[in-house]
Amino acid sequence: MIEVKHIAKTYYGKDNFVALKDINLTVKDGEILGIVGYSGAGKSTLLRLFNGLLTPTSGSIAVDGVSVNYDKQKALNRMRQQMGMIFQHFNLIQSMTVYQNIKLALDINQYPKDKDKRIRDLLDYVSLSDKWDKFPVSLSGGEQQRVAIARALANEPAYLLCDEATSALDMKTAFEIVDILKRVQKDGVTVIFVSHQIEVIEALCDRVVVMDKGVIVEENTAKNIFTSPQHDVTKSLVKQAVYDQNQALYELIYSQKNSEQTAISDMVKQFDVDVNIQFGKTLSLKDETIGFLYIDIIGKDKEPAIKYLEEKGIKVNKHD
Ligand SMILES: Nc1ncnc2c1ncn2[C@@H]1O[C@H](COP(=O)(O)OP(=O)(O)O)[C@@H](O)[C@H]1O
Ligand SMILES: [Mg+2]
Repeated sequence: MIEVKHIAKTYYGKDNFVALKDINLTVKDGEILGIVGYSGAGKSTLLRLFNGLLTPTSGSIAVDGVSVNYDKQKALNRMRQQMGMIFQHFNLIQSMTVYQNIKLALDINQYPKDKDKRIRDLLDYVSLSDKWDKFPVSLSGGEQQRVAIARALANEPAYLLCDEATSALDMKTAFEIVDILKRVQKDGVTVIFVSHQIEVIEALCDRVVVMDKGVIVEENTAKNIFTSPQHDVTKSLVKQAVYDQNQALYELIYSQKNSEQTAISDMVKQFDVDVNIQFGKTLSLKDETIGFLYIDIIGKDKEPAIKYLEEKGIKVNKHD
């Protein structure tokens, strides 16, 4: 169980920014908790407090009844050992094979049992046994995320933290990851799934917390969030999932050398936008390959973000 009490987080800099204000939340053992909200709501900040990547400005977090002392390295290490984490862009080490990526996690934590057996079991768990000697670049996005899940589970954590884990994947692949995460929960791991994709949250989570501008604005069962949303932000997120699936769809056309994956991931980092990839297709011409990608772009920096893609040589058409 994770108990969050009166947590606030300010990023100090030229302009101080209050990212979280008085957050109170309990994560129950064995559940899949969804944290949903638009870009900038503070979701990633909250998640990073759970594994000590960030330190709260005030308030307390207790894991299994033990209050975490963020000043004590030992306490932080103990907390980190209980937390596996996966990310939007997988964060695998490109120069290492699938096997080596997972082994590194075991080495760092001085895994006490048979490492080779553990890696093989994990690869079997995510159905990637035949890819053990491949490098990340040769894997699809969904396969890379499965490697990342295997790596995150390597040291048998009690919690799996997921930050936009399906947001860089098309919907079909996203739901394959959802199925794996449901299995992870069945096998006793508590899952905290942060996403702006409410339709993925709905398919996966038992309970949902909605965040906006650094506060929790609504908390309920997944069913109630969907059938009777109370807060305006929740209503808008639900509406987007139910009615607006194909609106504001953009068609991106690129030649293979544009490397659209890098452009999109850079865009998401630089601008206040989120992206949902709906589907993609490549066409092979005689001398080159042309890619088509259909995406939603959501967020207040939509216009400059689109301009950025165009500057990278990607043609962007509004697709109705
Ligand atoms: N290191 C940082 N320094 C300053 N501001 C930050 C930093 N990280 C995030 N922020 C700001 O905090 C707010 C919340 O960010 P984040 O937790 O990443 O939101 P979300 O994951 O919901 O999109 C955003 O407005 C973001 O710009
Ligand atoms: Mg985030």
